[in-house]
Parts: sequence; structure tokens; C-alpha cells
Amino acid sequence: MQLIKQTSLKNIAIFASGAGTNAQKIIDHFRNSALAKVSLIVSNKAEAGIFKIAEKEQIPAVLIDKEQFFRGDTYVKLLQDHHIDLVVLAGFLWKVPANLVQAFEGRIINIHPALLPKYGGKGMYGHFVHEAVLAAGDTESGITIHFVNEKYDDGGVILQERCAVLPGDTADVLAKKIQALEHHWFPLIVERLLS
Ligand code: GAR
Repeated sequence: MQLIKQTSLKNIAIFASGAGTNAQKIIDHFRNSALAKVSLIVSNKAEAGIFKIAEKEQIPAVLIDKEQFFRGDTYVKLLQDHHIDLVVLAGFLWKVPANLVQAFEGRIINIHPALLPKYGGKGMYGHFVHEAVLAAGDTESGITIHFVNEKYDDGGVILQERCAVLPGDTADVLAKKIQALEHHWFPLIVERLLS
């Protein structure tokens, strides 16, 4: 008799507040994976592009109720009910509450479009980050993928990748370089963490 080893797919939850281009890359990466799948999308913004992606991809999506998010265990339970193994913040702009961080200790990661600890913290996202890098005259920027703790953009670093900031670069040009790094590295790191 031949024994067939049956392994169940790991479950990824993506939290996003914006367009969701990183979320899309992760969904694509795991589309035919034997390791994991994106099984839940969570957002704090009803008009976020991520909801269109969720609909197109037929992934369950949840709009956060702010009051419940910051008080009580509704979202811990939501993640547990979906058997989530890894929570991926892909442009999620709210702080993650302590109870969620504790319940998923070491299993929540974030991506930030700069070389943390530089240019992190509340209000530092998108063009605000790139404009700050340019205003400081930095000659390099990059991405940071890190574990999430109770502070903004603060937990242990998993990966940093760099790109040059060239004379004449605008925030748009820098944003494109950073986005290319994010789209390349984020799905690979998610896979590495789940393997
Ligand atoms: C990404 O650039 C990500 O690094 C950033 O939001 C963008 C989301 O883009 N996150 C932060 O700034 C977190 N502090 P997307 O919606 O196209 O994936």
C-alpha cells in the first residue's frame, strides 16, 4: 500500500489600506502553491483598492470596525477562525493593537518603503517617505521587511534591500524603484517564513 502524505495549505491574511499592489503580488505568488494561500483580506478603508482585488480573486474580505479593532478580541478570533498562520501587513496604516500582536507573536510582518529605523513611524508612508529621503539628500534608500510589535515600523528586521537615489530622482522615480524591490522580495520572504 502506498501512503500519500497529505499536507494542508498554510493560511495567509493580508491587511492593507491602499491600492494593494503588494497584496496582488503575494496572491499571484501563492496562486498554485502547495505551501500556502491568501485566505483572508482585512482593511480599514472601505474605498481601498484591495477590496476590488479580493472580489476579483474571490478571497473573503473584511472591513474593520475601528471600535472593535482597538477593543476586544474580535479580530484575534477572526484570524483564529480562518486558521491564519501568517499576517502580512501590505500597506496597512494603522497600528496593530497589543492583543493581536501578542496572540500572533512572531507571525505578523510588515513592509516599509525605507531603510528603517530611518523614515518610519506614524504618518510615514508613500510619498511622505520618499520626499523625506530626497529632502535629507540621502544617496540610497530601500525597503525593510520586519516583524511587527506594538509600535509603528519597529520590530525585528527580516530583510533590507537597497537602491541608489540618483541626482534628479523625484519622489515618483524613487517610488518606482522601491515598488520594484517590494514586489520582488515580499512574496519570497512570506514563502521563506512559511516554509
Ligand atoms: C508600500 O509601499 C508599503 O511599503 C507601504 O505602503 C505601500 C503599499 O502599497 N507601507 C508603509 O508605508 C507602512 N508604513 P500597495 O497598496 O500598492 O501594496
